[in-house]
Amino acid sequence: MDKKLPQANYEPRSYDLHGLHGISDRTLAMHFKLYEGYVTQTNALTAKINQFLADGKVDQEEMPVYSELKRRYGFEYNGMVLHEYYFDNLMIDGSPDPGTHSPFRQATERSFGSYEAWKGDFIGVGKMRGVGWAVCYLNPSNGRLTNHWITLHETGTVAGFIPVLVMDVWEHAFILDYKPAERIDYIEAFFSNVNWKTVEHRLERTIAPTSTSAAA
Ligand SMILES: [Fe+2]
Repeated sequence: MDKKLPQANYEPRSYDLHGLHGISDRTLAMHFKLYEGYVTQTNALTAKINQFLADGKVDQEEMPVYSELKRRYGFEYNGMVLHEYYFDNLMIDGSPDPGTHSPFRQATERSFGSYEAWKGDFIGVGKMRGVGWAVCYLNPSNGRLTNHWITLHETGTVAGFIPVLVMDVWEHAFILDYKPAERIDYIEAFFSNVNWKTVEHRLERTIAPTSTSAAA
């Protein structure tokens, strides 16, 4: 018997980021539209895949189309989710660096020896040639931070690691404000708008269960 599967009904989130330093409202407006496209595509892709599953199985003749849809699944899903992490870790009147007593700064010191060493590595990842993201991840099993390059939206993620600071370095994130060769200026602008409270909140939420279970 055919069964109707639940659909993905993600709604695009809205962000008030009017007036960031060095990232124009025009860039943000374009970027929000692109993000909304990933939400739409995630929902649409889920609906298409569910059509194949209406009879509870994927037949051999359906496999080529089904496979292509499934290969796009990670791209669209991560495109949606990473943009939400990115917009969430920006704010109007942010600050370029976390405070001296910031738990995030302390986590960078434990993981890299100093905050400056962590930042140098993160910026290095952000300057890498290619289309993708710089992401600082937390390993929830030991509280350590590592910085990773993510190609497109999905290649290079570490299973089970938690994104703590996410920077979009696709050219669409800055091309209306900077030349392609000026990516470092965009990265500096990004840092001047970081919401470190959001970053610290991600850290706290994910370290706490590990600490509790380690103590038990
Ligand atoms: Fe983007």
